[in-house]
Amino acid sequence: MRYRLYQPEDFPALYLLEEQCFAPRERFPRHLMRQLVAKKDAATWMADASEEDPKEKLAGFAIVEWSRAAEERVAYLHTLEVGARFRRQGVGAALLRHCIASARAVDVGSFWLHVAVDNAAARALYQSQGFVARQREEHYYGRGRHALTCALALRNVS
Ligand SMILES: CC(C)(COP(=O)(O)OP(=O)(O)OC[C@H]1O[C@@H](n2cnc3c(N)ncnc32)[C@H](O)[C@@H]1OP(=O)(O)O)[C@@H](O)C(=O)NCCC(=O)NCCS
Repeated sequence: MRYRLYQPEDFPALYLLEEQCFAPRERFPRHLMRQLVAKKDAATWMADASEEDPKEKLAGFAIVEWSRAAEERVAYLHTLEVGARFRRQGVGAALLRHCIASARAVDVGSFWLHVAVDNAAARALYQSQGFVARQREEHYYGRGRHALTCALALRNVS
């Protein structure tokens, strides 16, 4: 597996994976995804599988964005997606670690994300990387689809 930053020509493969990972009502609309990957204060990490077939080349991707809130810089994970046949091989954890490293590189103090309460795989992954659930947000993903806000401190508060 090779981990690298997104390039504009990756968009078709990236959005195909979005369509494979999420049902239509849960997906980022194409135009919003295009805006996200083009943001300046953000990083999109790609995981390339070694196969030659371009349709199977992208194993996963993750997008983190950072901004200043009150006293410190905070990062937010917009999405983390791994193709079905590449799961449980450490790809999701590695992509998340790359996002965390990008955030650390710009001196982010805390890293946040939302995860659906019923997404056991993602919750286990985030927990394994040190994220702690802080708050439950009712109907965050639409009616009856609740979320947890999870956080990871990257710097000790003095
Ligand atoms: C969630 C997702 C990104 C996990 O990616 P992955 O590459 O399979 O995760 P990893 O192999 O790096 O798993 C790391 C750890 O997370 C936990 N984990 C991952 N998938 C799990 C599952 N299905 N059940 C239980 N624990 C799981 C385990 O602790 C795992 O370590 P282990 O394999 O040594 O036990 C992947 O399932 C996915 O893309 N799902 C669809 C999109 C999605 O829901 N994204 C998250 C949006 S918030």
